Amino acid sequence: MAIFGVIGPGAVGSVIGESLHNSGYQVTFLGRRAGKVCIERAGMQETVAFPVEAISEVKTVFDYLFITVKGTQLEGIMPYLDKLTHENTVCILCQNGYGQLEKFHIPNAYQAVVYISGQKKENVVTHFRDRILILPENTVTKKLKEIIAASNLEIRLSPDYRFEVWYKLIVNVAINSVTALSRNTALILQEKTVQNLCERLIQEGVGIAAAEGIYFQGNIADEIMNIYAGYPPHMGTSMYYDRVDGKTMETAYIQGYLYEKSKKHGLDTPCLDTVYSLLLASEMKG
Ligand SMILES: NC(=O)c1ccc[n+]([C@@H]2O[C@H](COP(=O)([O-])OP(=O)(O)OC[C@H]3O[C@@H](n4cnc5c(N)ncnc54)[C@H](OP(=O)(O)O)[C@@H]3O)[C@@H](O)[C@H]2O)c1
Repeated sequence: MAIFGVIGPGAVGSVIGESLHNSGYQVTFLGRRAGKVCIERAGMQETVAFPVEAISEVKTVFDYLFITVKGTQLEGIMPYLDKLTHENTVCILCQNGYGQLEKFHIPNAYQAVVYISGQKKENVVTHFRDRILILPENTVTKKLKEIIAASNLEIRLSPDYRFEVWYKLIVNVAINSVTALSRNTALILQEKTVQNLCERLIQEGVGIAAAEGIYFQGNIADEIMNIYAGYPPHMGTSMYYDRVDGKTMETAYIQGYLYEKSKKHGLDTPCLDTVYSLLLASEMKG
């Protein structure tokens, strides 16, 4: 039986680990320190707990490693990857944004587009919805999908994986930028000028995608604005929570990735350029 590890027992990692564990797969949760992580669900009394092992202490070599630390935390796990992998280990990077795999060498790695919604506070993860990872379709990912078919972690293999990556990037770029910069939740979408800014960020993202050969239909801005309209006013975004918690934001992999591509193609993206520079400025320290 394949041996699974999850590096980063946070909102996404804990739900992946739980799905595998509940279907009888052998899975280890690897965190910074030994301890436990609890998963709770809104409206349900029951909380489940899983043991977490310290990544520095673990001696197991894994067949599949789900890497679920944030993009900004990847450097911290790099020293351990050699001892945790063999030559055929498959790593699934489960993060928002794109471009991480160009900056870090992770063996046999595929990045998933993640549709798992949750939030970690202390050692408790609240799982809101979804358990879906979208991966490029190839022999390695087909095998993974087959191996974990009995679990409720849904692996979707996309023949149009780049489209999925760009769709998520564009969904993330507007709402994450405005909530992180304003340090305010989805409530701000009630303000017309914020809606306009989001629409312009989406349109700029669509233009960058087109320059990269990914084409979206004309009504994508309306579609994404409708998704935002369904967000409860008190809901934050990952970059909003990072900003208010004083953690480093994943700017480099969302706005930064789009900015680099915009410059590469010589595009005019004034809204993106502005939010990107302000996000960078907001994290500068003297
Ligand atoms: N949460 C969501 O709803 C959601 C949805 C879609 C995509 N994503 C993306 O998924 C990725 C993970 O996000 P998340 O929300 O799951 O983050 P998270 O809840 O903060 O989880 C990250 C986990 O990694 C651990 N970690 C950090 N550095 C580590 C190290 N060196 N060794 C071992 N463990 C380490 C953290 O531990 P500490 O707590 O000790 O720092 C934390 O438990 C991000 O790219 C995010 O944008 C998240």
